[in-house]
Amino acid sequence: MKVNELIKEYIEFFKSKKHKEIKNSSLIPENDPTALFISAGMHPLVPYLLGQKHPFGNRLVNVQRCIRTTDIEEVGDDVHLTFFEMLGNWSLGDYFKEDAIKFSFEFLTKVLKLNKNKLAVSCFIGDENAEKDIESAEVWESLGIPKERIKFLGKRDNWWGPAGSTGPCGPDTEMFYWTGKENAPREFNLEDKTWVEIWNDVFMQYNQLKDGSLKELKQKNVDTGMGVERTIMTLNNLKSVFETELFSPLINKIREFSKKDDTKAERIIADHIKASVFILNEKIEPSNLGRGYVLRRLIRRVIRYGNLIGIRKENYLEDLAKVVIDIYKLNYPELKKNEIFILDQLKKEDDRFRKSLNSGLRVFEKEIRKLEEKILSGETAFTLFSSYGFPLEMTIELAKEKNLEVDEENFWEEFKKHQELSRKATKGVFKSGLADNSEVVTQLHTVAHLLLQALRNHIDKNIEQRGSNITAERIRFDFNLDRKLEDDEIKVIENEVNEKIKASLEVKKEEMSVEEAKKKGASGTFEEKYGNVVSVYSIGNYSEEICAGPHVSNTKEIKGKFRIIKQESSGAGIRRIKAVLEK
Ligand code: ALA
Repeated sequence: MKVNELIKEYIEFFKSKKHKEIKNSSLIPENDPTALFISAGMHPLVPYLLGQKHPFGNRLVNVQRCIRTTDIEEVGDDVHLTFFEMLGNWSLGDYFKEDAIKFSFEFLTKVLKLNKNKLAVSCFIGDENAEKDIESAEVWESLGIPKERIKFLGKRDNWWGPAGSTGPCGPDTEMFYWTGKENAPREFNLEDKTWVEIWNDVFMQYNQLKDGSLKELKQKNVDTGMGVERTIMTLNNLKSVFETELFSPLINKIREFSKKDDTKAERIIADHIKASVFILNEKIEPSNLGRGYVLRRLIRRVIRYGNLIGIRKENYLEDLAKVVIDIYKLNYPELKKNEIFILDQLKKEDDRFRKSLNSGLRVFEKEIRKLEEKILSGETAFTLFSSYGFPLEMTIELAKEKNLEVDEENFWEEFKKHQELSRKATKGVFKSGLADNSEVVTQLHTVAHLLLQALRNHIDKNIEQRGSNITAERIRFDFNLDRKLEDDEIKVIENEVNEKIKASLEVKKEEMSVEEAKKKGASGTFEEKYGNVVSVYSIGNYSEEICAGPHVSNTKEIKGKFRIIKQESSGAGIRRIKAVLEK
């Protein structure tokens, strides 16, 4: 099936169920100051989900372009993208669970003619806010989905929203399709990636407020989202979204230019150039601030991966952008109108970055030759950032390729120092999107200490940190444990960390010798990284850890609610947690 056929069938189907089609909105949220980009079909509908009357009525349908930078590290696998399109249908206080699920099932099996025996679903298991979603499971069963294919899962998997930091959210039921050639296994197992999530029906009954609490909404809504790329991939028995018509001309072009086969690099380039074209289509320019900085990082990542696979062709960003415009010009005619701006901006950013890239890489190479340990200093990372325009994550990637780590804490210290200097120099005129980010990063550093202590208190006292990586968006934390954390364990940990944040604990720094620190019982696994005198940070009486900082001076400065959003294995006996501070 072709993409436009899928879109047409979807919209026609829901029109036949009395839905009105609404427009595919711009990527810039009009109604949500807490988010940089539209990340779901429901996002432009926030006021209507909260109760305002929609001029088109209470049943809506559309296809919506979306940007999700939270998935950026996943790009390169078969199904994750930063730019994608989403089909969605909405009930604004009209039908609820039963009809929503029946519509979904009918569309999947009757219109798309997907095999019912290859379908599986997940439903919300329930918590203190919302009850177990037995109703959805019963509807699925009545439609012939066997019990073994219906899994009840916790908030991490079966709760959606809000799209920004506040707004409508609720439990959901997700639909998965078995993409293997053989018959689907009797039992549905989420860990088996042959099951691909294609559709999500969210039952939006709550409004999440600034302080993280949930308020029941006056109206019960349905919000659904079906990924166009994934569904097309599934319908055409393809192995990845990059083989679909929405990507294959782009991948072919990249292969034409490159000297090396590298699937991951090709996919990253294809995804990022597409997202960049669509951001540029909104007349956003690359910069060091907010949306412009997201755009800059995407473009610079393309250039770096282009170098990695030996693309030498001049102005190839423009060639690739033209392919993107070609793929989408019928559905998004404004791309053609903005083509000159898009190509021009790409060229400018390419020139800007190329000028400094090679000299920056020479600095990088020179610095790593001098290294005695496997850690690149924050000073070097900061020089690469400030003088050569290397986003921090790019330096981290470069270092990783050489089996090195970057001292990120030190980078942020440098960043802060520099910021203070410039502030003084320019009497407060210096203002950067990154400035706020460094505050968030500092908060997350302190949160990492709280997390480690909570893990020790509730999971195993021998747990040690085995690595961490902190960005303004999230914290990634590795520790020794050879099993998955259960949902209730995660909750206990989240609760304890949030309790400590609320408790306004003082964070103190003391300098002492390694021996003294050990005698005090302070934790710290990377001793070799520290000199003879170490800083020990204590948080109230709760935690003591050797660390280089930076940290907040009181936990009350930590803004938002700590939440673990993902856990996975990261090698034998090592678990990896990703967590955020929800605003
Ligand atoms: N808003 C829901 C999602 O993005 C449907 O999955």
